[in-house]
Amino acid sequence: QAEISRIRNITKVQFGKYDLFPWYFSPYPEAFTQEDLMYICEFCLCYWGDVKSFQRHRQKCTLQHPPGNELYRDDYVSFFEIDGRRQRTWCRNLCLLSKMFLDHKTLYYDVDPFLFYVMTSRDEKGYHLVGYFSKEKESVDGYNVACILTLPQYQRRGYGRLLIQFSYELSKIENKLGSPEKPLSDLGLLSYRQYWTERLIEILLECNEKDEKISIEMLAQRLAMTTADVESTLQAKHMQVWHKTDHKIVIPMKLIKEHEARVEKAKTKPKREIDPDLIQWKPPV
Ligand code: COA
Ligand code: NA
Repeated sequence: QAEISRIRNITKVQFGKYDLFPWYFSPYPEAFTQEDLMYICEFCLCYWGDVKSFQRHRQKCTLQHPPGNELYRDDYVSFFEIDGRRQRTWCRNLCLLSKMFLDHKTLYYDVDPFLFYVMTSRDEKGYHLVGYFSKEKESVDGYNVACILTLPQYQRRGYGRLLIQFSYELSKIENKLGSPEKPLSDLGLLSYRQYWTERLIEILLECNEKDEKISIEMLAQRLAMTTADVESTLQAKHMQVWHKTDHKIVIPMKLIKEHEARVEKAKTKPKREIDPDLIQWKPPV
């Protein structure tokens, strides 16, 4: 029984102007999952099994952005902060939606202890959900991200990187070192590894240029990363060497070449970044 309930239960979802094809089981009420097509309102995230009721809803739904404060806006994206306790239904709906693309996280109903940082892209119709991460209001383990998701129609376009960067910018404002909740999915690990590597290489090359010494602790502070994540990245990328008692960080040629390729590419197609100065946020008290 337990195994069966994990099998993907929804074939296709209409979401705004996109069709979504779920990857995993999500505990929507069974009545809604028996149709070939499920309809989700892209703004309130409520769901329907039949097109008539959905269309009636769309006539009435006035929401055009996630139900929270806009904390960040640049010419590309906006971020909203939504409190799971104050917007319980919306956040539960977000969890149901994201569960279709998340294998192992089991957060659906108890959204009260979480804040949701939702990234949207704007057009004349409103603020469209691109991705989000959730964050425990108080994490005893020091996690700065619980779940993180880019909707499939937006994946592999750099949005995950923006979400990750935003999570670390919040940690910097809080004056904390953060880390994503474990275990990470395969895609989660790939994305974090890439982000961590890029950021570390940038700083290390800078230090090298200025002939500055830097320690793992200093790297962690500058990036709001835990020392464990700094070390695991250095290890995974073969950037640590020990000579007798001396510990050195080295940058393999391969990583320098990759870095140079990114710099070259950014000249023709500038990479999107979060501008920390545009974040209007104080840590919740
Ligand atoms: N294959 C290989 N590398 C991948 C990858 C894939 N499918 N997806 C991401 N990466 C790596 C790449 O290095 C990529 O950089 P590049 O495109 O410059 O090579 C880097 O991660 C960042 O990619 P980006 O486009 O910014 O990420 P994304 O918007 O696709 O979002 C996730 C990444 C993890 C949020 C997204 O894959 C997702 O929502 N997955 C499903 C939910 C999930 O597993 N979440 C993590 C739970 S712990
Ligand atoms: Na993306």
